[in-house]
This record gives sequence, C-alpha cells and structure tokens, in this order.
Amino acid sequence: MKKSGKMRIIVGNWKMNKAPAEAAALFSEIASGLTSDCCRVILCVPFVDLLTVANLAADTEICIGAQNCHFDNEGAYTGEISPAMLNNIGVNHVILGHSERRKYFGETDETTNKKVKLAIASGLTPIVCVGETLLERELGVTDEKISIQIKKLLNGVLTPQLENLIIAYEPVWAVGSGRCIEHADLVHVCKVIRASLSSLYGVEAANNVPILYGGSINSQNFTDLLSIDDIDGGLVGGASLVAEEFLKIVNCT
Ligand code: 13P
Repeated sequence: MKKSGKMRIIVGNWKMNKAPAEAAALFSEIASGLTSDCCRVILCVPFVDLLTVANLAADTEICIGAQNCHFDNEGAYTGEISPAMLNNIGVNHVILGHSERRKYFGETDETTNKKVKLAIASGLTPIVCVGETLLERELGVTDEKISIQIKKLLNGVLTPQLENLIIAYEPVWAVGSGRCIEHADLVHVCKVIRASLSSLYGVEAANNVPILYGGSINSQNFTDLLSIDDIDGGLVGGASLVAEEFLKIVNCT
C-alpha cells in the first residue's frame, strides 16, 4: 500500500507468449506464490488464454486483462475481439495503445481513443499507454508528446469514468531494451502526466488516477521506482513470464 493509502497495481503483459496449457501452469505458479495482499495483480494474456486463465482466476484476487480490443462491440470486423466479448468471459481490464500495437499494427491515438471510450462503457478498465520515442526524448519534446497523447487518448472520457482508468507510462525506448528509466526522469514525467490530467479534470480527479511505469522492469530496479510518490505500480513485460521474478516484483510492493 502507498503512503496515500492507494492500492499498488502490478500488471503482467505476457505479449504473444504461452499457449493455454503453459498459461495455466504459469498462472498457478504465480497465484500460489503471492504473499502481498496490498497489491492488485492484473495478468494480461493472449486472447486464446483468456478463458482458461479467467476461469482459474475466479477463485483468486488476480484480475485478468486482454492486450487489445476493437472499437466497436459487434459487426463485420474479421479477426477482431470486442470489449463486450471480453467482459462476457470475465475479463475486466484491457491494455490499449501499447507501443507495439502502434509500431506493428498502425494504431493511432485516434483509434485508441475510440477503444478507450468503448472499453469503459463496456465495463472494462483500460490500461492506457503513453510514451515517447528515443528521438523525441533526445529532441527534448517528451513533455509535449506525453501531454498531447493524454489529451487525445482521453478525448470524450468523462470525469467519473476516470475511476475505471489506469495510465501506463512506457517510454518506447525502454520497452524490451533492458534500459530502464532514470529515477529523476520518471519523477518528472509523472508530474507532466498529473498536470495534463489536472488541466482536463481538476487536481483531485487527476490525483486519483493510477500511474504505472513500464519498460525493462525487473526485481532489481523496481523497488527504487516504486518509491516515487506518483508511481502506483508497474506494467511488466519480459519479467512477467518467469513466475519467480514476477513474484519478487509483486511481493516487494
Ligand atoms: P518489458 O518489461 O519486456 O520491457 O516490456 C514492457 C512492456 O511493454 C509492458 O507492456
């Protein structure tokens, strides 16, 4: 638990890893090793694993999330999965706007914004990703990039709906690179995120939105980042695929 009394949140993003039998095994290892009850654990697994893992999670405190969804709830969208379908099988979270979706599948702030609004309306909590590229950081435009993303991604989201929304700051250059952000840089970007949220929704609502950091988190570097007041938890990629390492991260909260 944080000083503010807010619950910490650790999200595992398994990306495109683990077929259902492997997913069930990893889930069970994680579920049986959890000792921290001051932390909400959300596992975001591939679509084909969702039913298996959601059924296993039903008797636990672990929440299950998808890694994407469509911006409409039904229709002629070959290959897509809607927020309503996810909600129907017991999924309660969804990662939206991840940099890998933007890089490989052409997702934009505009399409992500539509998904964010429909996900909330369909009973899911979106984990909305923002983050600058290495070039943007080097050019010194990180702050502008993050505040524009927040405004575009949350366009049309109403103040009460913020209760069902998580922001994940994932610098693109830190994702999967082994290069984690510096403490002082994260403190700064959190302030930019809170200021952007405050300008849209006021200080109180802005302060209640959980902010997670993601990008090359491991059990060594995470404790220091978690000590930052504005950080409410982490979005963990590679390290969430190894139960022992993920549990070290969760249990240090
Ligand atoms: P890594 O932890 O592997 O850098 O991935 C971060 C991420 O993309 C989580 O969504």
